[in-house]
Amino acid sequence: MTTPWTQRYAQRTQRMSSSMIRELLKMTEQPDLISFAGGLPAPELFPVAEFEAAAQRVLKQHGSKALQYSTTEGYLPLREFIVEKMSQYGIQATPENVLITSGSQQALDLIGKLLINSGDLILTENPTYLGALQAWRAYQAEFTAVPIDDNGIQIELLEEALCGGPKFMYILPNFQNPGGVTLSYDRRQALVALADRYGVPIIEDDPYGELRFEGNHLPPLVVLDAEKLNGDDARPAAGNGHNGDEAGFFRGNVIYLSTFSKTLAPGLRLGWMVAPKSVIKRCVQAKQGMDLHTSSFVQMVAHETIKGDFLPRHVRRIREVYKTRRDVMIGTMLRQFPPGITWTWPEGGLFLWVTLPEWLDAAAILPKAIEQKVAFVPGTAFYPDGTGHNHFRLNFSNAQPEQIEEGIKRLGRVLAQELERTAELAYA
Ligand SMILES: Cc1ncc(COP(=O)(O)O)c(C=O)c1O
Repeated sequence: MTTPWTQRYAQRTQRMSSSMIRELLKMTEQPDLISFAGGLPAPELFPVAEFEAAAQRVLKQHGSKALQYSTTEGYLPLREFIVEKMSQYGIQATPENVLITSGSQQALDLIGKLLINSGDLILTENPTYLGALQAWRAYQAEFTAVPIDDNGIQIELLEEALCGGPKFMYILPNFQNPGGVTLSYDRRQALVALADRYGVPIIEDDPYGELRFEGNHLPPLVVLDAEKLNGDDARPAAGNGHNGDEAGFFRGNVIYLSTFSKTLAPGLRLGWMVAPKSVIKRCVQAKQGMDLHTSSFVQMVAHETIKGDFLPRHVRRIREVYKTRRDVMIGTMLRQFPPGITWTWPEGGLFLWVTLPEWLDAAAILPKAIEQKVAFVPGTAFYPDGTGHNHFRLNFSNAQPEQIEEGIKRLGRVLAQELERTAELAYA
């Protein structure tokens, strides 16, 4: 007897769906279409020659080690490199605080596996990273979402959401995906204080922090949390209820995630999680059930490529190229987009976020844009509560400046036509 597979699927699959962006990317593979839809880095910046040379060195010098099974925690020299790199941003980790993951997407899934019971409430920004929603929906999470503005999550609305008792909050502090906005210094401090007051941990997801084009780098939440904790401890009667399972920096409220996807290449699938040792230990167990470990070969080649001073030089180059592309995109939008449309002004990262007049629906406009050979991602997918119909995300890292100019011109024409067609609604 054969029962249809659909009847065999576990209950949790009911909330799983394929990413709208991945589906969209399939539609945008036509050669003459200019896509601002994906979150793709500029492929011409991938350090192909450096990887080729590094791969040869690794195979020659440590071939059998690179092709053998390895530890789940990750290649120690790479973890040491990450520890050193993060110390420049004030994060005081040891290699035992670091777990190498197969992209930070896997870290999100590990967090789901470790922390989410069916029906648990997760607090996110509204809008937020679609891949996190996708990962955690599979663990049957519910979401409470707090709006962002130009300075990140709106702190005055956060407290009410915290009263709902979320399991953790998920925060993208730098050049948020999809909003492009950065959490201000004051809000970072307020957020950490609220997390502490309500005993709600923070997942700080920071894939874009290093891609700052201008302005000052702001301290990660994990650093502010550690400073707060140390300040509390300095007071004699502090009696704080923090994770007392270890001494030092990583005993507080924050798990920090980052990745080499945007600074090296996403095809490596190389990210990392920084957390208290006890959390890392549990994530190691969870990861063993997923993939045993992240590719030893890839970790060793990546380390061979970036050791020394390659990475800072390379990241400087990426920043220059992306800054130019952001400027071309915004400059063209200023000239070509009709009045009534606004957007964020990211100081780094890959994305900016467009707001249409309330009566327009970005998802309904997309097919018309695709007809004109230009694509974006409609906003709704990024909103856990399904709102956000009048927003869309534009990626500026992947297309060449001339393509950006042409694509934005096309999009400007589509939007102008839509505004004209719906003009009477403006006064409804
Ligand atoms: C906020 C955020 N987190 C995580 C990821 C996943 O990155 P990775 O390629 O490291 O899995 C992305 C990718 O775009 C992202 O934007």
